Amino acid sequence: MADWFSSWFNTHYYHILYKNRDEKEAEFFMENLLSYLSLAEGSLLVDMACGKGRHAHFLHNQGYKVIGMDLSSESIAFANKDVSEGLSFKVHDMRDSLDWTFSVDAVLNLFTSFGYFDSITEHEKVIENFSSKIKPGGYFVFDFMNAHRVVKELVAEEVKTVDSIEFHIRRFVENRIIYKQIQFDDNGEKYQFQESVMGILLTDFKQMLEKHSMEIIDTFGNFSLEAFDPETSDRLILVAKKK
Ligand SMILES: C[S@@+](CC[C@H](N)C(=O)[O-])C[C@H]1O[C@@H](n2cnc3c(N)ncnc32)[C@H](O)[C@@H]1O
Repeated sequence: MADWFSSWFNTHYYHILYKNRDEKEAEFFMENLLSYLSLAEGSLLVDMACGKGRHAHFLHNQGYKVIGMDLSSESIAFANKDVSEGLSFKVHDMRDSLDWTFSVDAVLNLFTSFGYFDSITEHEKVIENFSSKIKPGGYFVFDFMNAHRVVKELVAEEVKTVDSIEFHIRRFVENRIIYKQIQFDDNGEKYQFQESVMGILLTDFKQMLEKHSMEIIDTFGNFSLEAFDPETSDRLILVAKKK
């Protein structure tokens, strides 16, 4: 059976359900992150799991060189409709090794685009692949869910209506994996998808990153970059620096 993340993210229903996570939200977050990071103009950034490129396009407009990578060919085809010098998009599975002969100033992984694989070892492999291409003093930024709070305050059942589609959502946790089952009807057809994301915690990120010469220098709890608090924060946004 195909991995859930190679099919669900490639459907237009994923983009309907999450349509509120839009360009405006991406721009607000990136503006705050850029002023925090103070990267030199022309720095080379990677958006690992860039989706349709909402962050990557904005970063490029701010004067950075950007490479966006994603497993979804549909999303990359969309992102590629608007490219110019210094901005490129490519289909790439983040678990595959990189054949780059150059290194980069920062790698960003945004909006919970991690935690999809079966084991911590597989996640660590991704961190190893990308960390090895970050320049000394460069950054790895993860914007992940605050798994501690998601599990503690799990919303077991929810119905969301978007674009006249009623999405019936059921959540549960098993062996550290947070499952989200999504059912809906559209044009007389029944659909069912399931997301499963490992509840990776700050301590897990710390261990994985430290093994690959990355030190966490800051943690934030939302897109305004307020301090992270596991009990109350919406997000776990962490900034790691390459030694
Ligand atoms: C929650 S979406 C976020 C997309 C984008 N970062 C955003 O904020 O709009 C997660 C993305 O991860 C991508 N993805 C899932 N598994 C992947 C993998 N193994 N390698 C690369 N990208 C992957 C999906 O195709 C999807 O675009």
